Amino acid sequence: MASTKRRRRRRPECRPLVAAVAVFALLLLLLPAPGAEAAAAHYGVQRHLDRINKPAVRSIQSADGDMIDCVPSHKQRALDHPLLANHTIQTPPPLSLMPASSLVYRQQQSSRRAWQTWHHAGHCPRGTVAVRRTTAADVLRAGSLTRFGRKKKQRRPLPPDVATGNGHEHAIAYTASEVYGARATISVWAPAIEEANGFSLSQLWILSGSFNGSDLNSIEAGWQVSPELYGDSRPRLFTYWTSDAYEATGCYNALCPGFVQTSSRIAIGASISPVSSVGGPQYDMTLLVWKDPKLGNWWLSYGDGAGGGLVGYWPAELFTHLSDHATMVEWGGEVVDTRSGGTHTATQMGSGRFAAEGFGRAAYFRNLETVDADNSLAAVPLDAIQTLAEDAGCYDVRKAYDDGRGGWGAHFYYGGPGHNPESCP
Ligand SMILES: *[C@@H]1O[C@H](CO)[C@@H](O)[C@H](O)[C@H]1NC(C)=O
Ligand SMILES: *[C@@H]1O[C@H](CO)[C@@H](O)[C@H](O)[C@H]1NC(C)=O
Repeated sequence: MASTKRRRRRRPECRPLVAAVAVFALLLLLLPAPGAEAAAAHYGVQRHLDRINKPAVRSIQSADGDMIDCVPSHKQRALDHPLLANHTIQTPPPLSLMPASSLVYRQQQSSRRAWQTWHHAGHCPRGTVAVRRTTAADVLRAGSLTRFGRKKKQRRPLPPDVATGNGHEHAIAYTASEVYGARATISVWAPAIEEANGFSLSQLWILSGSFNGSDLNSIEAGWQVSPELYGDSRPRLFTYWTSDAYEATGCYNALCPGFVQTSSRIAIGASISPVSSVGGPQYDMTLLVWKDPKLGNWWLSYGDGAGGGLVGYWPAELFTHLSDHATMVEWGGEVVDTRSGGTHTATQMGSGRFAAEGFGRAAYFRNLETVDADNSLAAVPLDAIQTLAEDAGCYDVRKAYDDGRGGWGAHFYYGGPGHNPESCP
């Protein structure tokens, strides 16, 4: 009703516009063919965008340049996945069924909370999910529709005792045991990226399956700086999943169907602010991923206490090995080094400083915990955590326990500058 009325009222002023469009269309027809290929490409991009961006009931322009669409939750992209054809969106489990922590978290004097930039500009109504709108420029930067939002094939989480040698470099901590989730508080930085297709990310990996086979299941979440994916150098909340070792399944965020979002407050892919600075305030965010013991879905929560909330879940239907439990958790940083200039990349990891610089200068993960079979969070003992850095002259990692900070439990510092004449040629 309302829309017919609006259309009727607008029609008279549209007439000159319609005429202009008709003239323009005629001109296009008269033009020779060269534009045809570009037009076809444009048409392909537009169709792809139509699949990704679902119609919104409200859109919010964020100061960082993003448009956040409030999409009715039952129309979200996740449900386009063939395995979710009969999926019913789950209501978030009540607080009482979330894994409980034995640690008492004190509000840290030394670190503050980072949050999502777009919250300053508005909020999405109940019943919708907040989704960062994908633009044509986002897709065009990827160079190909099929590559957009996916990881390059060789990008696998490394088997902890084998160097991968595929250009992806890590500085991580990990623990191998039967787990049902993991949690950590991660400092937020905006590392410099040298190449347009480079990235730097800080995340947790929840893994099951074999590293050498094609059945590795991985659930991933954290922050990433990726000029290719987002067109800027801000850190952004991201999710990822694969059920076949990064071959045919999986992608970032909602760029392919799969991750079911339940939050109208937290937009995956949206930028996080403020960002920590060397010698200045430290800002961090808490991520918890855990398996609903009854239904087998893997939930993600972002933040804790007051500001925190459930973001959504990876449905049990998506996975094979992870439908039971995870066998390894990894926390830490990853960059890609293509040696494009003949030297190691100068892309930074974390703050761009080595682990030894410690609090206030190096990036950290604190309060490392895993979820047990009885759905409770347990602090990971320091000696159950191993660390790995493929090239410690470029990026390194150093684990610690409390070190006088009080309440940090098992934690580690990690990162580095990448290329430098002393240790990373
Ligand atoms: C959904 O339900 C239909 C009808 O019961 C069934 O044929 C189909 O296999 C189901 N799809 C999935 C992915 O479970
Ligand atoms: C993978 O490695 C394990 C031991 O590390 C081995 O037992 C298994 O056969 C390997 N699988 C494949 C497909 O290579």
